Amino acid sequence: MATRSLVGSPPDCQPGFTAELTAKAPYIGDMAKTKSVYACTECGAQQPRLLGRCPDCGGWDCLVEEASGGAEIRNVSPLGIGSKPQALGEVAVSGSPRLSSGISELDRVLGGGAVPGSVTLLGGEPGVGKSTLALQVAACVQMSGRKVLYVSGEESPAQIRLRADRLDSVPSGIRLLAETRVEAITGHWSELAPDLVLIDSIQTMHCDRVESAPGSVAQVRESAALLSAAARRTGAALFLIGHVTKDGSLAGPRVLEHLVDVVLGFEGDRDHAFRLLRALKNRFGSTQEVGVFRMDAAGLEGVENPSEHFLAERSTGAPGSCIVPLLEGTRPMLVEVQALVANAAYGMPRRTCMGIEDGRVALLLAVLDRRSEVDVAARDVYVNVAGGVRVGEPSADLGLCLALASSRLDLPIPADVAACGEVGLGGEVRGVSHLDLRVREAARLGFRRVLTPSRSGSETESKDCERVPISSVAAAVAWLLAESPGGSV
Ligand code: TYD
Ligand code: MG
Repeated sequence: MATRSLVGSPPDCQPGFTAELTAKAPYIGDMAKTKSVYACTECGAQQPRLLGRCPDCGGWDCLVEEASGGAEIRNVSPLGIGSKPQALGEVAVSGSPRLSSGISELDRVLGGGAVPGSVTLLGGEPGVGKSTLALQVAACVQMSGRKVLYVSGEESPAQIRLRADRLDSVPSGIRLLAETRVEAITGHWSELAPDLVLIDSIQTMHCDRVESAPGSVAQVRESAALLSAAARRTGAALFLIGHVTKDGSLAGPRVLEHLVDVVLGFEGDRDHAFRLLRALKNRFGSTQEVGVFRMDAAGLEGVENPSEHFLAERSTGAPGSCIVPLLEGTRPMLVEVQALVANAAYGMPRRTCMGIEDGRVALLLAVLDRRSEVDVAARDVYVNVAGGVRVGEPSADLGLCLALASSRLDLPIPADVAACGEVGLGGEVRGVSHLDLRVREAARLGFRRVLTPSRSGSETESKDCERVPISSVAAAVAWLLAESPGGSV
């Protein structure tokens, strides 16, 4: 009965409703239907109905309702160019030079600076230092005599001023704007004609023509589209700051990644000072470059020699520590892998890994146990990568096996030794990419010997640094025992 009276025509007499009221308030049955679509907060795909799981990306519980009105406006050409075909040779090359951010580690990742009219998305977890980096870029660009507009939707100008006071030499001329309405921002943008615009963060922005709440997929997408169009029109370099979700992907729709020219990921552990800036997409440069920073009391500082930074606190002569040359993009960096093998107190042995995947450590423990004389299966194992680095590549396998064996046998690895190589399930040591670069970095930092896969070819020999070919984990353990006379399994 109740549903019928809600969607049907107004009854002549309804208790509690005067004739006037019923005339003013439109009856639900008479109203034009506003169509809703359900957009995925992870990938941006739209579905006609609410589903528990997104059929496009497979994410659970990530569909949210939004009015379908916003979808039509999107089809505006973001490049703002005419639709006439042109011969490739006739296309004028933009003569404007890149805008240097003034921070060499950032310029390196951007491919030499920001391209005027381009859009860069800077993503990272809360607290990693995105706002700090943005303010430092603003300071450097403003100091080079250009105009900067810093828009914050999260912090008040007073809060930004406080942060600026903590940093070194932030010029007072930077224009701050605490605003979240995109139309208002573009208004000030046209007036000020800045060379660089920073938006902190894109998730707080909203525009009038979309009805959904700020932070929703439609709002983020439309706001980013409007701001990008403004950047391309005015030739200003635009930086959008975005939060990332706990699984590491940029919050909001992936469509944002298609819309922008450069996607940068800012990574780091809040408990450590070390930060890594990666290019995940770059229309104007390589994605192989990484920027290394250290967060200290006066903001972010570029680290030109990451290996020196990581090895600064290394204690030599202690068992369970091995130096591994990793490669981040094209940049080698030496890190210290530490292992502690202890007697299991009771029950199941404990395994705790920091900075390296648990599964990889479990695999290497099984290989070490089965393919060498070192028994680790029934013992507690703790693994740590010093300095807050995350090891993602298998080239650290040999170093980790050596660190584990070194701790179990209580034999320190000599201080002038580094190791790199991937370990297979048969216990064999396999080749790694760019071995030359890695060995050269080890030599530069004073390492005299590098344990390398035996089948790594005959690359240029360095006279300061000897390569010790290792064919298997058993051979690595035998080498360790031979290095320390008197040691035994
Ligand atoms: P912030 O840039 O606000 O991070 P995000 O914008 O990514 O959320 O900075 C986060 C942390 O950086 C904060 O916890 C304090 C620290 N910090 C420093 O250590 N030194 C500094 O000079 C500044 C400005 C911040
Ligand atoms: Mg911030």
